[in-house]
Amino acid sequence: MAQEPSADRRLSTLARHLLPSSPRRTAAAAEAEDIAAGTLESSPTMASQGSSVFAALAQAPEDPILGVTVAYNKDPSPVKVNLGVGAYRTEEGKPLVLNVVRRAEQILLNNPSRVKEYLPITGLAEFNKLSAKLIFGADSPAIHENRVATVQCLSGTGSLRVGGEFLARHYHERTIYIPQPTWGNHPKVFTLSGLTVKSYRYYDPATRGLDFKGLLEDLSSAPSGSIILLHACAHNPTGVDPTIDEWEQIRKLMRSKSLLPFFDSAYQGFASGSLDKDTQSVRMFVADGGELLMAQSYAKNMGLYGERVGALSIVCGSADVAVRVESQLKLVIRPMYSNPPLHGASIVATILRNSEMFNEWTLELKAMADRIISMRQQLFDALKSRGTPGDWSHIIKQIGMFTFTGLNSEQVAFMRQEYHIYMTSDGRISMAGLSARTVPHLADAIHAAVTQLK
Ligand SMILES: Cc1ncc(COP(=O)(O)O)c(C=O)c1O
Repeated sequence: MAQEPSADRRLSTLARHLLPSSPRRTAAAAEAEDIAAGTLESSPTMASQGSSVFAALAQAPEDPILGVTVAYNKDPSPVKVNLGVGAYRTEEGKPLVLNVVRRAEQILLNNPSRVKEYLPITGLAEFNKLSAKLIFGADSPAIHENRVATVQCLSGTGSLRVGGEFLARHYHERTIYIPQPTWGNHPKVFTLSGLTVKSYRYYDPATRGLDFKGLLEDLSSAPSGSIILLHACAHNPTGVDPTIDEWEQIRKLMRSKSLLPFFDSAYQGFASGSLDKDTQSVRMFVADGGELLMAQSYAKNMGLYGERVGALSIVCGSADVAVRVESQLKLVIRPMYSNPPLHGASIVATILRNSEMFNEWTLELKAMADRIISMRQQLFDALKSRGTPGDWSHIIKQIGMFTFTGLNSEQVAFMRQEYHIYMTSDGRISMAGLSARTVPHLADAIHAAVTQLK
């Protein structure tokens, strides 16, 4: 097999070194010399230029969400706008590290007693306690009765995955129902966890609101005991949440049919600006004494995206069950990644344990939520002032990070081509990526798309 000239030279040199001055060659010298001379076939697992044991591998497609950023980064246009990925940006279009996070990091840095030892399999114990309190409320009976098993996981995705694998191993029903549509990673996470994924109706494109009747019908016909994935708030990608009355009906139906709730909370505090308000749905289900799973992420609400901080909590029927559940969660986690990372969880614990820092966090969180809400109003006003055909009131009615615009994939492609605006092909835009400077450009693009491509 052909070698690069430099590799050839290296092998020849090696052969010369190994070659004794006596006429008898050692086996290693003989092999090295033969490879250099090209007279010995390299082993089938030896990759060289133009050949690989993976040569038949097909090119995998980009992730439908993260791939938007890949395409955006390649675009040289100065007017380009990335509304694909759900990450908060400032008015200047820059990523934001919260001030309170910087302070927490400084405190950690200044503490000479901190070490870098492994965390336990279940993560930082204090972080787990504080996370359960944050989502279920400090006065939650489930916490006081020690019925909650919480493990630190790799952000929301890791929490969903560990929860999924736990259910696949230990729960009698293997089917999980996810809303249609939902976050694009849900089906993959749960399928690879070993569950069967089905969907329930959630969104009505005609009203750009909740298909409540369809939702109730589909949950009613799900087999008893099925797992139901629920977005705790700020449903992604639609921005459409049930009202409190609707949640109550969902809860009653699910409990009457023994459907197991698996909540995904990626946006606590991001929807309304209030940490407590955004967990109302979850707390209603905990208050009735029933069991549930909760995947919690600090990516958005603390801006800790890349630190991968999250938690999986399983609310159990009794303290005794919670202890055994935790022991089994350890068996899921250990062969997956052994134990979770230390830094992000330490930041969260530093902030949550200190009331002054906690208050500062809530103010910064509210400021992010308010900026997103104001972007909704600005975009709505800009479309109205252009007389853009259609009813755009869903932009101000929907909540959370995203607006499900209703633009079709052709219109999305047009806006990318002509206006360098990047979003997922389902027409979802991240409101957190917009600013007063970019709203007019987006409104022009939407106007052109809906008037030129009907
Ligand atoms: C609904 C939903 N769940 C979970 C996640 C997971 O995010 P992460 O793993 O970054 O916490 C996201 C992120 O976009 C999401 O939108």
